[in-house]
Amino acid sequence: MYDYQGNVAIVTGAARGIGRAIAKRLAAEGCHVALWDNNSEALDLTFGDLSAAGGAVSRAVIDVTDLASVRAGVADVIKSWGRVDILVNNAGTGQVASIIDDRPEDFDFTMRLNVSGTFNCCHAVVPTMVENKSGRIINISSWFGKVGRPSSLAYNASKFAILGMTQSMGLDLAAHGIRVNAVCPGAIANTHMRKVADEQLVAKGLPTAAERAHTIPLGRLGEPEDIANVVAFLLSDQASYMTGQGINVTGGLWMN
Ligand SMILES: NC(=O)c1ccc[n+]([C@@H]2O[C@H](COP(=O)([O-])OP(=O)(O)OC[C@H]3O[C@@H](n4cnc5c(N)ncnc54)[C@H](O)[C@@H]3O)[C@@H](O)[C@H]2O)c1
Repeated sequence: MYDYQGNVAIVTGAARGIGRAIAKRLAAEGCHVALWDNNSEALDLTFGDLSAAGGAVSRAVIDVTDLASVRAGVADVIKSWGRVDILVNNAGTGQVASIIDDRPEDFDFTMRLNVSGTFNCCHAVVPTMVENKSGRIINISSWFGKVGRPSSLAYNASKFAILGMTQSMGLDLAAHGIRVNAVCPGAIANTHMRKVADEQLVAKGLPTAAERAHTIPLGRLGEPEDIANVVAFLLSDQASYMTGQGINVTGGLWMN
C-alpha cells in the first residue's frame, strides 16, 4: 500500500472496468477521488459502492470529448478540494475493424474519445498542476500502442498517439514537477470494452481473448486490479524518477 492521504485525483471512465479498479484503489489509499464517466447509471453504482467502503469520492457525469464539460468538472474539483494532484486518463473505446471495413465515423469516434479526450483532460488540468509545481498524470494506452495488430486500425492509431503524447508531455512538464507516464494493458477481463470487443471478434469468426489466453506467458487474462496495482505504483514516490514511460502490463504477451 502507498499513502496518498489528502491527494486529489480525477479518474476518467471510472464507472466500470479498469477505471473503476483504479478509482477504488486510489480511494483505499486515502485519495479524494473524482469519479468521471458519461454513463450516469454505472457511475451511480460505482459511487455508491466506493462511498459505502468509506472512500472520499465524488461523482460527475462528464463526457471527456467535450472540453467545456471537462473544464467545468476541473473547476468543480478545485472548488471542492482545492487542487488536483493526480489525473488518470482511462476513458477509452475501440472497434475490431481494419482499413478495409472501418467506417470513417467509427475511426473519428475512436480518435475523438481516446486521443482528444486525453488531450482535453490534460489541457484542463495541467495549468493548476503547473501553478502548484507538482502533479502526476497516467494515460491508459495498450500493448496495441506499441505494435500494429490485425483489425485494429483506429485503436492502434489512438493508442500509439497516447504514448506519443505521454512522451511529449513528460518532456514538457518535467521542469514543472509533473510526471507523466502511461500503462499499456494486455487483454483485461471483466470490462465492458472486453465484452464488446469479444462480441465483435466472434462476429468476424476470430478467437476471443479468453480463447487466446494460452498464448499469454503468465497463462491468464489480466484483471482490472492488475492495472490498478501498476498505476498505484507509478503515482507513488517509489516511481519519482520515472516520466514519459509506457509500462506493459500484459502477462508477458508484449515485452518491447
Ligand atoms: N479491457 C482491455 O482488454 C483493455 C486492454 C488494453 C487497454 N484498455 C484500455 O483501458 C481503458 C479502460 O477500458 P476498459 O476495458 O475498462 O473499458 P470499459 O468499457 O469497461 O470502461 C470504460 C469506461 O469509460 C467510460 N466512457 C466511455 N466514453 C466516455 C466519455 N466520452 N467520457 C467519459 N467516460 C467515458 C465508459 O462509460 C466506461 O465506464 C481504455 O482506455 C481501454 O482502451 C483496455
